[in-house]
Amino acid sequence: MSAVSAFIVLEGGEGSGKTSLLGGLSNALRQLHFNVLATREPGGTSEGLALRKLLLSADGLDWEHGAELLLMVAARVQHVKRIIEPALANGTVVVCDRFVGSTLAYQGAGRGLPVALIEELHDKLVGGLRPDLTVLLDVEPHLGLARSVRRLETAQHDEGRFETLKTAFHERVRADFLRQADKNANRTVIVDANRDYPFVQAEVVARVTEWLASRGR
Ligand SMILES: Nc1ncnc2c1ncn2[C@@H]1O[C@H](COP(=O)(O)OP(=O)(O)O)[C@@H](O)[C@H]1O
Ligand SMILES: [Mg+2]
Repeated sequence: MSAVSAFIVLEGGEGSGKTSLLGGLSNALRQLHFNVLATREPGGTSEGLALRKLLLSADGLDWEHGAELLLMVAARVQHVKRIIEPALANGTVVVCDRFVGSTLAYQGAGRGLPVALIEELHDKLVGGLRPDLTVLLDVEPHLGLARSVRRLETAQHDEGRFETLKTAFHERVRADFLRQADKNANRTVIVDANRDYPFVQAEVVARVTEWLASRGR
C-alpha cells in the first residue's frame, strides 16, 4: 500500500491550542505509523521564518494592512512550493498550524481587506491549494487571549503583535472562522477549545484518525 498523503490544517484564534496540537496530533499520528510533517505559518522555510519575525514581532513594526497581507502570502508561496507540495507528493500527512483560512479571518474579516483579493492571490500565486481537512479550534477570544498573553510572558520570543489588538478584532476573526467552517462543512471539524487541553487533544486526535480511516475506505 502506498503511504497516505493528506493536508490537515489547524485553525483558530490566539491561544486556541493550535501549536500545542501541532505537536500532540503529529505525535499521535506517528504512533499510528503515518509519515507526518508538522509545520506552521507564517514560517515553515527559512524565508518564511524571516518573514514571521517581521510579521509577528510586537516590537515597533507597524505594517499597512496591504503590506501585512503580501508578506503573509509571500511566506505561504515559499512554504507551499518548497515544503508542502513536495511532502504531499511523497506520501506524507502534512499537519500545518494556520493556512489561508487565517489570512481570510485576520487580514480579511479582521483588517477589512477584500476577500476576493485574498482568494485571487491564493489562487494565482499559491496555486490554490486547500486543506483536505481543517480542524477549527473554536475558543472565546477573552479566554484564548488570556492564555496567549500568559504564554508570551515566559516565552523566548516576542510574537505578540496580534495579541495587542482589541477584542472586537478577535471577535471578527472568530466569527469568520465559523463562517468558513459552515461554508466548507464537509471538510471541517469544529472542536470546542474552551475546555481543558487534554479533552481538546483527545477529541482532535479521535476525529482526525476517524477521518483518515474513512478516507482510506
Ligand atoms: N485547552 C487549553 N486549556 C488551557 N490552556 C491551554 C489550552 N490550549 C492551550 N493552552 C495553553 O495556552 C497557551 C497557548 O497555546 P498554543 O497552543 O500556543 O495556542 P495557539 O498556537 O493557538 O496560539 C500555551 O501556554 C498552552 O499551553
Ligand atoms: Mg501558535
